[in-house]
Parts: sequence; structure tokens; C-alpha cells
Amino acid sequence: MSHSDLIIGAFLDDPKRTLSGEALARRLGVSRTSVWKHIKALQEEGYRIEVLKGRGYRLKGLSARPIEREVKRGLLTERFGQRVFYYEKIGSTNDVVKELARRGEKEGTLVIAEEQLNGRGRLDRSWESPRGGVFMSLIMRPNLHPTELTRLILLSGVAVARAIKSLYGLDGRLKWPNDIFYEDKKLGGILSEMEGEAERVNFVVVGIGIDANCNVSVDIPTTSLKKETGREINIIKLVQEILKEVESLYEAFMKGSLAFLEEYKELSHTLGRDVKIVRLKDTIVGRAVDIDSNGALVLRLPDGSYEKV
Ligand code: BTN
Repeated sequence: MSHSDLIIGAFLDDPKRTLSGEALARRLGVSRTSVWKHIKALQEEGYRIEVLKGRGYRLKGLSARPIEREVKRGLLTERFGQRVFYYEKIGSTNDVVKELARRGEKEGTLVIAEEQLNGRGRLDRSWESPRGGVFMSLIMRPNLHPTELTRLILLSGVAVARAIKSLYGLDGRLKWPNDIFYEDKKLGGILSEMEGEAERVNFVVVGIGIDANCNVSVDIPTTSLKKETGREINIIKLVQEILKEVESLYEAFMKGSLAFLEEYKELSHTLGRDVKIVRLKDTIVGRAVDIDSNGALVLRLPDGSYEKV
């Protein structure tokens, strides 16, 4: 535990108490100047710490930033989010997490940023990532054949939809494979990337972006959780809830359960609609009629034939 962790721990042991610099210095085994430096650093991390002249310090509010200490406090998972890399600003959390995965970082590792300067979306699009959004990426190391990966992608969408429902009561919808919609407006998206060989997955990166407290302007209708709920979204709580749902769905899936596919179909914004699928090499149109057990979208084409995407 770092000194800053110990100071926050001391405040939380007795939240209403004012702690003198001397008492904190004794508890940590450091000088009062050092305590003061830590207090300043904590204030910069977003903790509201009141300085009472001649008396000491009082914690008035925890940090609302998704820093490691706050993401892990009260987190109900065993794997996902137990290791956290936080950035105030970064190019893309997917790029960072991929590099970490290549270096052997373990499954469940989370990279989270308050702002992305080079956020990436599907099909080589960019992903606007201003402050107020959720930008998080996770490492998964599933024992899967690369052809089974779509299921994992769908599973992540279900986790986000569940989190939004349980925290805010909003019925999110999933546009295949996993754009997150609310009432025909885009609320977020997921970018999954994989590294491995023909027969074996080495790791999968699942990058989730949600318009929580920010508004982005893109060429389709969008909304934010703040707009839909009418209140400021606690990003830490949202991230923790997503991690919890990812973990429970992922563990069930790794034990062989495909129950999430039925849930995915119920959440689908795509089934029953005429859709245009833009692929890297071509575009096809048809009526979305099913999602098969591998997670592929089944289209009925205008000539009556079926094609799996
Ligand atoms: C899409 O709908 O096109 C997918 C958007 C995915 C955005 C997230 S934000 C966190 C992670 N880092 C990125 O650069 N992209 C994903």
C-alpha cells in the first residue's frame, strides 16, 4: 500500500474526524512535510480534502475520477479490474492494453482513461472521446478457437446493457455486433481486437466506450446517459458494474454456458429489421432474421437466400 492509500484509509476509518498532520505522520512513519505533499497529490487526484489551519485535514469527498484506488474500492470481482492502469489522457486505451497484453499482463487487466486523443471505433473509424465519457479496455485470455470470438464480443455488449439497466433502469439495445443504443440513438460502442494464431487465441482486447456525461456529434443520432437519466453519472460506479457483469457472463461462458445469446437476442436492436452490413470489402443488405450459436447474424437476402455475417 502506498502512503496515499494509507492516508485515504485513515480518513475512511473515521470519516468525520479531523486528522492532524502529526497523527498522520506518526501513522505513516514519515515527516509532516511529507504528509502535506501526499495531501496535495491526493487533492490533485480529485479528493476533496479540507485543510483546517492548526488542526489538520478532513476528507470531504472521494475522488470522482476513475483512478485505480477508487475503481478497486468496493469492486465485486475477482479478476476483472483487479489490476488497473489509469490515464488522465491517452491515445487509445485499446492500444495501451494491447501492448500490456503482449508483455504478458494478466486476464482482467483494465486500462481506463478520462479522455482519448486517438480513440478508435470499428471499421477504422475514429471515436470521439472527450472528458465525461467512459473509455475502458480489458484483457481476456479465453481458451477459444478464433472462430468462436464473436460470442465474446456479443457477451461484452450484454454486460454493458445489464449494467445500464441495473444502475439507471434504462433499456439499452444492442445493434449487431455491439453498438449500444437507447431508443434509436447511439450511446456507446465496443471495439474488440484479437491477437493469436490460426488455431489459437493469444488474447482478446475488449474496448468499451460510453457517452456517460459527454455529448458527441457524429453523423448518426446519439445520446448520453446523463441526458437520458437527467443526472450526472458516477463513472466509477458504472465501470464497476460493467466489470461485475463482464466477469459473471465470462465465467459462465468459459464453463460452456451460451445462455447470454438468448439475452443478446432479446436486447437486439437489429433482429427483424432490414439492415445494411458494411464489411471491409463489400456491403450487403437484407432482413436480419436470427443470430446463430456462434454469434453470426443471419440475413435473408432479397433473393430469398440466407447469408451469415
Ligand atoms: C464503435 O462503435 O465503433 C466502437 C467504439 C469503441 C470505443 C472504445 S473507447 C475505449 C476503447 N479505446 C478505443 O480506442 N476504442 C474503444
